[in-house]
Formats: sequence, structure tokens, C-alpha cells
Amino acid sequence: MPERAALVTGASSGIGLAIADVLGDEGHGLTVAARRPEKLAGAVEELRGKGFEVEEVAANLTSEEDVQRVVAAHRERFGRLDVLVNSAGVGFGAPLADIQTKRVDMQLGVNLRAIILFYRECAELLRSAGAEHRNALVVNLSSLSGKSGQAWLSVYSATKAAVVGWTQAMNKELAGDGVKSVALCPGFVDTPMTEFIREHVKQEDMIRPSDIGEAVRYLLKLSPACVVPEIVFQRPGEAI
Ligand SMILES: NC(=O)c1ccc[n+]([C@@H]2O[C@H](COP(=O)([O-])OP(=O)(O)OC[C@H]3O[C@@H](n4cnc5c(N)ncnc54)[C@H](OP(=O)(O)O)[C@@H]3O)[C@@H](O)[C@H]2O)c1
Repeated sequence: MPERAALVTGASSGIGLAIADVLGDEGHGLTVAARRPEKLAGAVEELRGKGFEVEEVAANLTSEEDVQRVVAAHRERFGRLDVLVNSAGVGFGAPLADIQTKRVDMQLGVNLRAIILFYRECAELLRSAGAEHRNALVVNLSSLSGKSGQAWLSVYSATKAAVVGWTQAMNKELAGDGVKSVALCPGFVDTPMTEFIREHVKQEDMIRPSDIGEAVRYLLKLSPACVVPEIVFQRPGEAI
């Protein structure tokens, strides 16, 4: 049984997969969750191929029952939680007049509500890791658009700004118990989510998922005395 364990949502591709890779490399047993089972299975095969111990749970994280099922599967397999990564996310672009209610609900559901539910369901496990080593960590994927709202991505930006606020609140509530939270706020990262912009921004000009993964490796190495509440990743010439 690994000495440390992590739960990563949105781990079937992009940033979540890159972070899961680093956490496995740093000796964590992994529970990985994402929506589409076949895509998740491909990522799990890749992670297991590196020798990592992986529990796989396909789940739609807009469902409270699915969130609870993911956490229960993790608890059953590993019995502890040192790192929670909330990377599952969706973004739909639209000008104000074309905003569809069901897409508002989906973005709020995955990008914000699921994070809130994961904290609540994981609080006991996180607090017990915090009591043991004062360095339990929750990584929340916000965005550069959560720091500065973007036209056309207004709803997405609002959910990501909320993630920053939520992360600040959680540090006030939990950091004293050894559970630290960080909001990661990247500009364009080269993942399936940014396929829509490749015509205008070349892939090689985007932040790499591994850049985000390595930031998490750094966070793991911080002393219990240090909380980093937020990391902003910009591309050259890009500003908040
Ligand atoms: N790429 C960027 O430029 C960028 C920049 C800033 C912030 N972010 C944020 O970073 C996070 C990861 O994004 P990414 O770029 O790595 O995108 P990605 O490769 O598209 O990954 C998104 C992940 O979220 C999962 N997901 C989406 N809806 C879900 C649902 N309802 N239930 C469960 N899982 C769901 C996806 O699974 P399925 O594919 O099966 O749906 C996938 O594993 C997101 O929160 C995103 O907003 C991305």
C-alpha cells in the first residue's frame, strides 16, 4: 500500500492527467475520476504502465451521488487522502444574448459545485492527513480568466473567479488543520479544451500540461509553515 494517496478529478486528459502523473511519480496511490469511461480507461492504462497504483471511477461530477461514489471508492481502496485535485472542468463560449441555461448549469455544476461537494465529502480524510503531517493539499483548477473576466467566456470566467474565492475561504477554514488549498490560474494550456483556439494560438505557444504538473510537485515539497494560495501561469506577453 502506498504511504500517500491522492484523488484527481478530470484525470482522463490534459492538466488532470499531467498532475496525476506527477503525484504517481511522487509515490501516491491514485484514484482518478472523469466522465467518459473509455477515455478514462486509456489514461489509467498509461498511469498503471508507469507502475502506479490506480483506482478508476467513471463519474459525472454534476451528480452528488457520483461525487460520493468517487470518494467512497477512494476511501475503500486507500483509506487516506493526502492530496485532492479538482481538475474536471468545462467551458462554453457564447456572447451574452446566446447564453444557454443548460450550459450555465453545466459549467456551474462541474467547475464550482463539484469542487464544493468534494471538499465536504473529503473533509474528514483531509483533516486526518493534516493532523498527521500538516501538509494535506487541495489543488483547484481556476484559470487566468478567473483573475480577469473574459468576454465570450463570461460564465466560465465567473465560475473560475468563484474557485479563487472558494480557495481563499477554504484556507481560512482548513489551513489551521494542516489542509492547504491552492487555486491554479493558467492561461491557454495545450489540452483538448483549447483545440478550438489552435487556429489562432499555436500549440507550441501554449503552456504545457507538464508545467502545471511540475508546479504541483513544487507544492508537495513546501514546508507545513508555507501556504501558497494561488499560482498564475501566463504566456509571454499575456497579462491579467
Ligand atoms: N486548457 C486550458 O487552457 C485551461 C486553462 C485554464 C484552466 N483550465 C482548467 O483546467 C482544468 C482541466 O482542463 P484541461 O485543459 O485539462 O481540459 P480537458 O483535457 O478537456 O480535461 C477536462 C477533464 O474534465 C473531465 N470532465 C468534464 N466534465 C466532466 C463531468 N461532468 N464529470 C466528470 N468529469 C468531467 C473530462 O472528462 P471527459 O473528457 O470524459 O468529459 C476531462 O477528464 C479545467 O477545470 C479547466 O477549466 C484549462
